[in-house]
Amino acid sequence: MDDTSGTAAVHFDFSGVRVLVTGGTRGIGAAIAAGFHAAGAQVLITGSAPDAAGYEALPPHAGYLQLRLSERGDIQAVAASAGRIDVLVNNAGGTGGAFTPYDFDTAVSVNLNAVFHLTEGLADALAGSRVRGGASVVNLASEMSLFGSPYFYGYGAAKAAIVQLTRSFCVSLAPRGIRVNAVLPGSIPTPMTNPFAEDPGVHKMVCDATPLARWGEPREIADAVMFLASPAASFVSGHTLVVDGGYSIMK
Ligand SMILES: NC(=O)c1ccc[n+]([C@@H]2O[C@H](COP(=O)([O-])OP(=O)(O)OC[C@H]3O[C@@H](n4cnc5c(N)ncnc54)[C@H](OP(=O)(O)O)[C@@H]3O)[C@@H](O)[C@H]2O)c1
Repeated sequence: MDDTSGTAAVHFDFSGVRVLVTGGTRGIGAAIAAGFHAAGAQVLITGSAPDAAGYEALPPHAGYLQLRLSERGDIQAVAASAGRIDVLVNNAGGTGGAFTPYDFDTAVSVNLNAVFHLTEGLADALAGSRVRGGASVVNLASEMSLFGSPYFYGYGAAKAAIVQLTRSFCVSLAPRGIRVNAVLPGSIPTPMTNPFAEDPGVHKMVCDATPLARWGEPREIADAVMFLASPAASFVSGHTLVVDGGYSIMK
């Protein structure tokens, strides 16, 4: 069966679970927020705009907090106001633009430093969780965690470091009952990657290099995130789950 869109492929139950998804306004983050909501969770999302009115459409029934990844004050404010959090999904991030990528320092600040500081800031909130399977953090890595690119020095360095940061937090937060994992997506069409996804040559190149011969869907990344946050993964921590249709095996 080739069910790559719509609702979760398996049934998760996150009733009563409070989930914070950074960058939940669109793309993969919006799919993660929608997936958790459909599974019964209370979902908070963040975005760069001052309030939810700054967006045409947001995932259903999600609370909204402003979090500009480069602003330490925003990170502290979110950590202080989020309340009890059972699952933190560090999804927000990006290249800064397909044709005008962030400079190195900004890319690292947005994609790495913010993840470190937000996770530290929410550690007490996560440690107070009593959910089945334990509280957890799921970080979004990238194929750029694995491969070099002359266009995305900072993004690649930051995403490689996310894999290592995941392992370090796995060790430091385990005594507090918090599991920490990462998902490493392949090529997923979103506002960030649409310039590539909509280019027929790039689209075909990705399909040709992928054993499953297609791009993934945001929902397929959401499913992997929900698995890692669920009681089904209660003994999984420090792991990076590659969800790329086999691309990184072939490359
Ligand atoms: N799409 C892929 O193929 C792919 C592959 C590998 C990894 N990833 C990773 O998956 C995650 C989501 O990617 P995506 O493709 O869904 O990207 P996207 O469509 O561009 O969405 C990015 C989200 O992050 C938020 N964000 C970005 N920069 C921000 C900043 N400086 N401050 C505050 N919020 C910021 C955006 O908020 P606003 O709406 O407010 O701007 C938006 O909610 C990222 O970490 C990305 O690196 C994606």
